[in-house]
Order: sequence, then structure tokens, then C-alpha cells
Amino acid sequence: MPIYSEKVMEYFMNPRNVGEIDNPDGVGEVGNPVCGDMMTFYIKVKDKRLEDVKFKTFGCGAAIAVSSMVSEMAKGKTLDEAKKITPELVAKELDGLPKNKFHCSNLGAQALSKAIDSYLKKQAKGGKK
Ligand code: FES
Repeated sequence: MPIYSEKVMEYFMNPRNVGEIDNPDGVGEVGNPVCGDMMTFYIKVKDKRLEDVKFKTFGCGAAIAVSSMVSEMAKGKTLDEAKKITPELVAKELDGLPKNKFHCSNLGAQALSKAIDSYLKKQAKGGKK
């Protein structure tokens, strides 16, 4: 059983921004083939900023804490700023993750980035906004 920081435990027990967004502007889903965990991020964009960020995670405690932290870090940021959220930054904000749980923090940043990409793709195709 890995030793989690208090912050990881807190974010795991009281996850922020859990759920789905109706009619999202972007969706990003990633899975980890090794552990089988899945994470989906939903975003709402307004004036190039992330107005809302929600997620659903089927995964370990670290994955839930990570998604929760990523959603909080990303909310209100511009798309460019949000793209710069790295797994290292997320782990740092959580006061560290056990080494064997570091892959879980990759998932969070990846899922958010995928959601932003899906929004940008829609834009390029001449979607709304
Ligand atoms: Fe798979 Fe954490 S063990 S995401």
C-alpha cells in the first residue's frame, strides 16, 4: 500500500469537480493499459478560457486525487496555460506521489490536454464559438 501525502488523501476523499458537463466543448479520454484505469475530462470554453472542467475517473486513489487537482488547476486558465499543466506540477501540488503511482499523474494531464485538443479540432472544423 503506497504512502500518500495528506493532500492526496484529502483530494481523494473529497474530490472536486466530479461529474460530466452537458454539451461539453471538449472531451478527452485516456486509459492506462497496465492498470486498466480510465479517466475522462469534460471542458467548457469561453473567451479562450476554461470556464468549467469536470471529470470522471475509474481508477485508483491517486488517479482520483490527480484528476481532482488537475481540474482545479485548470479552471479559469487560458487554453495555453492549461496545456502547460504537467504531471510533475500536479504531483508537486499534491505534495508528491509515491514513485510507483507517478504514472497516475500522467493520466490527468493527458486527459485534460486531449479535451483541449478535441475542442481545438472542433474549432478548426468551423464549429461554434
Ligand atoms: Fe492506474 Fe493509478 S494505478 S491510474
